[in-house]
Amino acid sequence: MKNEKKKLPIASDHGGYEMKEFLRKKLLAVGYEVVDFGTDSLDSVDYPDMIHPLAEAVSAGKYPLGIILCGSGNGAQLAANKHRAVRAALCWDIELARLARLHNDANILSLPGRFIAFELAWEMVQVFLNTEFEGGRHQQRVRKIEQF
Ligand code: RB5
Repeated sequence: MKNEKKKLPIASDHGGYEMKEFLRKKLLAVGYEVVDFGTDSLDSVDYPDMIHPLAEAVSAGKYPLGIILCGSGNGAQLAANKHRAVRAALCWDIELARLARLHNDANILSLPGRFIAFELAWEMVQVFLNTEFEGGRHQQRVRKIEQF
């Protein structure tokens, strides 16, 4: 819709909290309306409690894309991928983030908050958000992910 800010959901546990806050501010600065699913401190929490609500919202079509984080990125990705039509990709460099959109039509980017530099994560987020799915030969492959 015209002049409406792009809504982007983001969620993390304590392991991804600091990077989430960094990314949230960067996203706000470039005009995103960031929907924060928590967590809201460094206190220890269980990542599924933040990740499932975000993934459910993406699965329901409320948001086209989302960003999730935990310490390794693995727990967050595993929880998110339990949801229908969610394709969460764990990425740790720019090319992986680009390919996740281009070839896998990933709709959630999972970041390892304790293992990569914050600035690199920001570059990855921008690439993820600004790369379109290539379709073509990848369309059938992506369709088959949910057919088993
Ligand atoms: C929390 O200590 C850590 O286990 C979590 O952030 C994540 O890495 C799990 O996969």
